[in-house]
Amino acid sequence: MLQVESVSKRFRIGGRTLHAVESVSFEVKPGQTLGVVGESGSGKSTLGRVALRLLQADAGRVLFEGQDLADLGQKELRERRRDLQMIFQNPLASLNPRMTMGAAIEDALIVQKMGGSAAARRARVGDLLTRVGLPRSVRDAHPFELSGGQQQRVGIARALSLSPKLVVCDEPVSAVDVSIQVQIIDLLRELQEELGIAYVFISHNLAVVQYLSDTVLVLYLGEVVEQAPAEQLFDAPRHPYTRALIDSILRVPHSAADRRMIAPPRGEIPSPLSPPSGCPYHPRCPIATDKCQHEKPSLQKDASGRLVACHYPLAPADATASTTPRLTKVLDTTVRSASKVDT
Ligand SMILES: Nc1ncnc2c1ncn2[C@@H]1O[C@H](COP(=O)(O)OP(=O)(O)OP(=O)(O)O)[C@@H](O)[C@H]1O
Ligand SMILES: [Mg+2]
Repeated sequence: MLQVESVSKRFRIGGRTLHAVESVSFEVKPGQTLGVVGESGSGKSTLGRVALRLLQADAGRVLFEGQDLADLGQKELRERRRDLQMIFQNPLASLNPRMTMGAAIEDALIVQKMGGSAAARRARVGDLLTRVGLPRSVRDAHPFELSGGQQQRVGIARALSLSPKLVVCDEPVSAVDVSIQVQIIDLLRELQEELGIAYVFISHNLAVVQYLSDTVLVLYLGEVVEQAPAEQLFDAPRHPYTRALIDSILRVPHSAADRRMIAPPRGEIPSPLSPPSGCPYHPRCPIATDKCQHEKPSLQKDASGRLVACHYPLAPADATASTTPRLTKVLDTTVRSASKVDT
């Protein structure tokens, strides 16, 4: 349904070039979910925007149902937009402050000449609000009158109002409480089963990505370092960066403060304006060698068809085996500190 081929997006900043997304390829089939993970600044939102042509790529192309989006004129692109929706990371910025929520959702229906009569549209808006767990009275509210979580749910209702074929969900649950998170995740899943919607699901929350995704793409400084079926990737990551990301979620977030839960893999993320030589992950990688400092590993397919960009990919078996001692160690420490309190 969606084919993204070697797309790159660069930004000029003060005479320097920032490679926000570099040569990224993936495809999404109808009814499937591609998860996109990576630390802040790794290029997730930029990739999502480029995939929907909300941003023009500097290189590469995007095909939707076999059609290059760059070939479409304004009118055709607008029609295509109906099928391609985005749930924005920052819901407040994506809502017009002067429009009521009902008007914001109806507006999309009117622009796309969908939704029928005024009464039919009104009913549809009410249904959509209910589906995302909001009271119908939200229809008459302005964005600033709603909480972050409510705004985000309006954003979801609006994206879904046009019965899209593909939705890029950019951190769709980052601003909502855990109880609502579950409700929204289940809603997205339900709609996928009912309507066959495909998702590109961008999130810091690896647990949610694991739950929803068929395939997962791991971005580091704008580049793919690993891409694999979700189950395999989480069971046995092959890239040390993926490994570090997964290790950092042994603790599940339960509070708003915990939301940005990925304790970064050791060290700081280098500036994307001056990425490291060789493998971009080498300064932080526990198994890096001289070779990693000088030679950039290309994204290679392994025997099982997974993609990894690493000179020394973790053996799938090793990665699984080492999960157990680590978990045991964490549990052990917890038990020991608890018994210390007892004595
Ligand atoms: N319009 C822009 N102009 C200049 N630089 C930009 C622009 N948009 C993004 N960038 C830069 O591109 C890189 C990738 O940004 P992006 O927002 O895609 O990251 P992200 O993975 O979505 O991060 P987060 O998890 O914080 O949302 C960052 O270094 C960012 O500063
Ligand atoms: Mg983002």
